[in-house]
Amino acid sequence: MTGVLVTGGTGKTGSALAGLLRGKGVPVRVASRHPPAGDPDAVRFDWEDPATHQAALRGMDRVFVVPPVQSVDPLPQVGPFLAEARRLGVRRVVLLGSSIVLPNAPSALELAAMVRAQPGWVVLRASGFMQNFLSPHPLGERIRRHGEIRTAAGDGRVGWIDARDIAAAASALLTESGAEPEDRRDYLLTGPKALSYPEAAAIITAHTGRPVRVVRIGTDEQAAGYRTAGTPVEFAAALAAMEDGIRAGREDQVSTAVLDLTGRPPRTFAEFVREFADPGAVPD
Ligand SMILES: NC(=O)c1ccc[n+]([C@@H]2O[C@H](COP(=O)([O-])OP(=O)(O)OC[C@H]3O[C@@H](n4cnc5c(N)ncnc54)[C@H](OP(=O)(O)O)[C@@H]3O)[C@@H](O)[C@H]2O)c1
Repeated sequence: MTGVLVTGGTGKTGSALAGLLRGKGVPVRVASRHPPAGDPDAVRFDWEDPATHQAALRGMDRVFVVPPVQSVDPLPQVGPFLAEARRLGVRRVVLLGSSIVLPNAPSALELAAMVRAQPGWVVLRASGFMQNFLSPHPLGERIRRHGEIRTAAGDGRVGWIDARDIAAAASALLTESGAEPEDRRDYLLTGPKALSYPEAAAIITAHTGRPVRVVRIGTDEQAAGYRTAGTPVEFAAALAAMEDGIRAGREDQVSTAVLDLTGRPPRTFAEFVREFADPGAVPD
């Protein structure tokens, strides 16, 4: 059998990808720590349990890899998994990586290098997700509850991308429908325009009618806020420190990769906000 193993297959990007692949008639195996009982297209998979890795890979010739979330050191779990994928002859791996290099997370770079080193395997360097502006992400949760964005990124811009556009790009790469050179190993994926938090807040306000104010804070205060929201200590520090890089302009970039791979432009932030009606609304 051939098909695509979608790790993170119940998450924002993976679930959209699984839907797109199924729409193209591609066999999909959705990996999850809690697969629905009796679903032949779902498999139990846990990064923390290597015993689940081989069975998930068996028979699959392509894999979408969503590394462990909220980890500053994904290599110990993902490295052996990729080695096993190589051994089993997986011809295509698409790694969901990040354009942002977290300051204290060098193993994410090693992981990307490991993928790039294998012919046919590619890395997606995704920009910040528009979905971060929705609950349950701490950013979206703050908007929902308090109508505010607290940021240490100042007026630095990010090329925000809708996770569904990442899924569309991944789908093209996993089905070879993208008209891209076969030897390309790395794609920066962004939305159509880079926006600062104040600019994003203004768009949310304009399209929802609900004022969203921006509170400028320091990196330490931001890390404390993430910890309070339940983010693990090391990852909270990394996320906050990342905002220094945004403030310095390191994420102020856009690419044409989504258009090049899928044939259609990525969604704008305004379209995203309109679609989710009122991301700042407080439920009753
Ligand atoms: N947010 C951003 O701005 C941004 C930017 C660039 C890159 N990224 C990357 O995007 C990835 C997250 O993608 P997403 O937002 O689509 O995912 P998500 O919606 O946060 O969902 C997380 C997925 O990971 C799975 N998962 C969690 N713990 C797991 C474990 N121990 N073993 C196996 N699977 C596990 C979950 O599946 P189950 O719960 O069903 O097991 C779920 O499918 C992260 O690696 C992050 O670094 C995010």
